[in-house]
Amino acid sequence: MIDVLIVGGGGAGLRAAIAVAETDPSMTVAVVSKVYPMRSHTVSAEGGAAGVIADGDTLDEHAYDTISGGDWLCDQDAVEAFVVEAPRELMRLEHWGCPWSRERDGRVAVRPFGGMKRMRTWYAADKTGFHLLHTLFQTTLKYQEIVRYDEWYVTSLVVDDGRVHGVVAVEIRTGRVEAIAARTVILATGGCGRVFPFTTNAAIKTGDGMSLAYRAGAPLKDMEFVQYHPTGLPFTGILITEAARAEGGWLINKDGYRYLQDYDLGQPTATPKLRSMELGPRDRLSQAFVAEQNKGRTVETPYGPVVYLDLRHLGEAKIEARIPFVRELCRSYQNLDPATDLIPVRPVVHYMMGGVHTDLHGATPVAGLFAAGETACVSINGANRLGSNSLPEILVFGARAGAAAAAFAREHREGEAAAVRSQGADEQRRLRRALESGGTGPRIADLREEMQHTLEGAAGIYRTHDTLAKAVETLESLRERAADARVDDHSTTFNTELISLVELHAMLDVAETIVASALNRTESRGAHQRLDFPARDDERFLAHSLVHRAPSGNPSVGLLPVALTRWPPGERIYGRD
Ligand code: FUM
Repeated sequence: MIDVLIVGGGGAGLRAAIAVAETDPSMTVAVVSKVYPMRSHTVSAEGGAAGVIADGDTLDEHAYDTISGGDWLCDQDAVEAFVVEAPRELMRLEHWGCPWSRERDGRVAVRPFGGMKRMRTWYAADKTGFHLLHTLFQTTLKYQEIVRYDEWYVTSLVVDDGRVHGVVAVEIRTGRVEAIAARTVILATGGCGRVFPFTTNAAIKTGDGMSLAYRAGAPLKDMEFVQYHPTGLPFTGILITEAARAEGGWLINKDGYRYLQDYDLGQPTATPKLRSMELGPRDRLSQAFVAEQNKGRTVETPYGPVVYLDLRHLGEAKIEARIPFVRELCRSYQNLDPATDLIPVRPVVHYMMGGVHTDLHGATPVAGLFAAGETACVSINGANRLGSNSLPEILVFGARAGAAAAAFAREHREGEAAAVRSQGADEQRRLRRALESGGTGPRIADLREEMQHTLEGAAGIYRTHDTLAKAVETLESLRERAADARVDDHSTTFNTELISLVELHAMLDVAETIVASALNRTESRGAHQRLDFPARDDERFLAHSLVHRAPSGNPSVGLLPVALTRWPPGERIYGRD
């Protein structure tokens, strides 16, 4: 029997696997991933990873930036643990072979990043995620006790009597459905950007882990907080890293004007605006884009309105040295060269602040079930994550979840539960039915597209009661229609249509929790902006949203107070001194 089964082979999953192997070499670890691990979305992270290392920086400043950036919705005990462990994790990665960029004197180089008052973002040019994931992947290869199920898709958790006993998964290559018994399960499947139509997220980011946990009885937390990154390429949604602005890039409107100087990005009045404004927080920058659009100062394109990112003044040498991947992406996907051309950009869904509710060690309320990384909400990101906090987050909380799951598995040595076999057989029947008879109703792709546009319209950068309430109705109808969705491919070999059907159901779960939580939060905070409730309301909502799946299958939203330690709620102030 597997001691620790990890769903997801990205940064959080691999870091958790290493932590288990390091904690206790006698443990068996399985990494079940729907793609080969090096294709996980961590690979596409660009700009860097935050951790205090530079002279003059302090852990308290990193904590404060994170908490104020999160509009005081972060759990401060989690943030305190995070800022201490982040630099240690980044240094550990160095020892495992991660090629961090360097200063001339050999010190690890750091760059500024949005909402951080100090330079504390470590980077490997602008391919940080690639190098980080590669380092983790090659490190897992040292441990024979880590076995991999590559291209296996987990369709359900085996849960009995409030305790997880394993998973049921399909081998995508053959269609074989297998129940895998495990003493503990860690969910590390990343976020759910694909619930929206326009996202930086890979096609695999369909909220699987969130849905698995939710259906197993674990609540989801803060699902209304969806981050838009201000600079995605139109049409593809490909990320143009914030590092481009950290290196000195400007955002300009259709008149060639650096429009951010007209907006309150939270800078203290003493801070020279022109120096810091492109590195304002992502929520405020995305909101400023909408305001420019409303003023008619964006540029219309076949793929929607855009503004421009101007890197021309940086010069070719700096672009090649610091952000070569930006140039590569612009050339390949936009047919332009940022050394000489303006880059069209617009806000794009990038990250989910919410996720599976966990404690500081990744434990969910379901015994034996853990979660880490973007799938989880610990919560260190509150209402708005600061750029470059997510890579250290997957390391710190991946390692913590691995160690905690190993400890749980050590204390629970009972054999395989009967539920593994029975629930495995049930799931096998369910999937066979979907495969053989399929439905006669609408196509999966049509339902998915309707869901995505519903979410963008109702739970985008700005929200109102009426649009959200209407979205609840549309999602209900989508749920009914999805029950009869058509499956045309009846083969068992690489049946990606069947996988899409299961993913669609997962995305509908996630979509319902986003809309329900956004409807319930009648205030504006961070990435959640209600036009009908424009002010932050600490009296009622200095609290996390916690959404359970009710027996009816509908989301039921409650509140959980935020953990405050040393930083009472205040104004959000940004801008480097
Ligand atoms: O822009 C970026 O490189 C994104 C970084 C992040 O989301 O942490």
